[in-house]
Amino acid sequence: MKKILVTGGAGYIGSHTVVQLHQFGFQPIILDNLCNSKAFIPERINSICGTQIPFYQLDCNDENSYRIIKEKEGDIDGVIHFAAFKAVGESVQEPLKYYENNIGSLIILLKHFPNLNCNKIVFSSSCTVYGQPDQLPVTEDSPIKSAESPYGYTKQVCEQLLADYSKSNNIQSVILRYFNPIGAHESHLIGELPLGVPDNLIPYVTQTGIGIRTQLTVFGDDYNTPDGTCIRDFIHVVDLANAHIKALEFLFNHPDTPIEYFNVGTGQGNSVLEIIKAFEEVSASKLNYIFGTRRSGDIEQIWAETNKVNTLLNWKADKTMKDAVADAWAWEQKLSKN
Ligand code: NAD
Ligand code: WQD
Repeated sequence: MKKILVTGGAGYIGSHTVVQLHQFGFQPIILDNLCNSKAFIPERINSICGTQIPFYQLDCNDENSYRIIKEKEGDIDGVIHFAAFKAVGESVQEPLKYYENNIGSLIILLKHFPNLNCNKIVFSSSCTVYGQPDQLPVTEDSPIKSAESPYGYTKQVCEQLLADYSKSNNIQSVILRYFNPIGAHESHLIGELPLGVPDNLIPYVTQTGIGIRTQLTVFGDDYNTPDGTCIRDFIHVVDLANAHIKALEFLFNHPDTPIEYFNVGTGQGNSVLEIIKAFEEVSASKLNYIFGTRRSGDIEQIWAETNKVNTLLNWKADKTMKDAVADAWAWEQKLSKN
């Protein structure tokens, strides 16, 4: 069994990926300091998998973490590097925190690759690298735009860092540019765990539905889109998790490929109002929302061209936006009963 170190494996996308790795016959090892997760998540991963998945509560920015992993787990066949901070607004307020954690952690990790006897990495990037696109859908060759936030800039730097590093070292990278991950595992034991007031649409919708928030504000209804609200490519988190399995298989099957970039989305755009409508249908309730002003820095519309990921990785999204909204709602309801 191939050993895969999953940094940030207790986080939203990481936890779902760990479950899929186990299901597809890999041996995941979680490294997470729980700065944006909870101790019950690794426990729930174990209960979904029906076995104990090794979990190390360690910091990616601490060189000792990799020494401990090496000592306890031996050589590593591949790394999926999820660990990062991801709050766009906070990154504007605290840029150092983002540069240090998001770029610093990648540097320290790569420095320890020789010791781990590893040369394969799957990196979590974001459609945020495309900024406000000139043409839709965006392909992997669409221009990288000037970053709207320090968070977005850290993703651009990490992409460049991996491109530079793979030229001079025997490192293979797959960069996955995620669109908007939503939903939860079908068991509804794991899902998105926003700490504090959510920035993102879906957790705000479900928290409003359950009564934690009183009202959702839709940021802008005067965009140049069919219903006036922004459009995104919402992808089910389990579909996204499966793309990581395909990315690893690609790396193992193409040992001479230094770096590849893939959009990971459904290829379809949905508006904010379509999300609200889907929520109202799956929850059989009305959502309390109002229209507000535009949120600064928001992209009007973006969705992925998925031809490359469909063909080269042999991956495509199976679940619909409505499936994902239903799973997000079931997860929120289950959380409220804990
Ligand atoms: P998340 O916050 O749920 O997961 C990140 C995990 O990393 C958390 O469990 C956190 O505790 C851990 N972590 C952070 N810094 C760490 C450190 N220094 N050492 C050890 N653990 C650390 O976020 P997510 O939504 O699962 O995102 C995962 C990755 O995907 C991130 O790199 C994020 O930037 C990227 N991404 C996310 C989205 C999204 O909308 N969720 C979209 C595009 C890209
Ligand atoms: C979606 C739409 C909002 C909340 C963020 C990051 C990006 C990437 C993906 C990591 C927008 C609207 C939201 C609310 C609303 N993450 N909205 N009311 O903006 O696509 O991107 O996540 O890499 O970097 O910026 O996602 O979920 O925040 O917003 O009307 O309370 O929902 O204006 O149009 P976004 P989001």
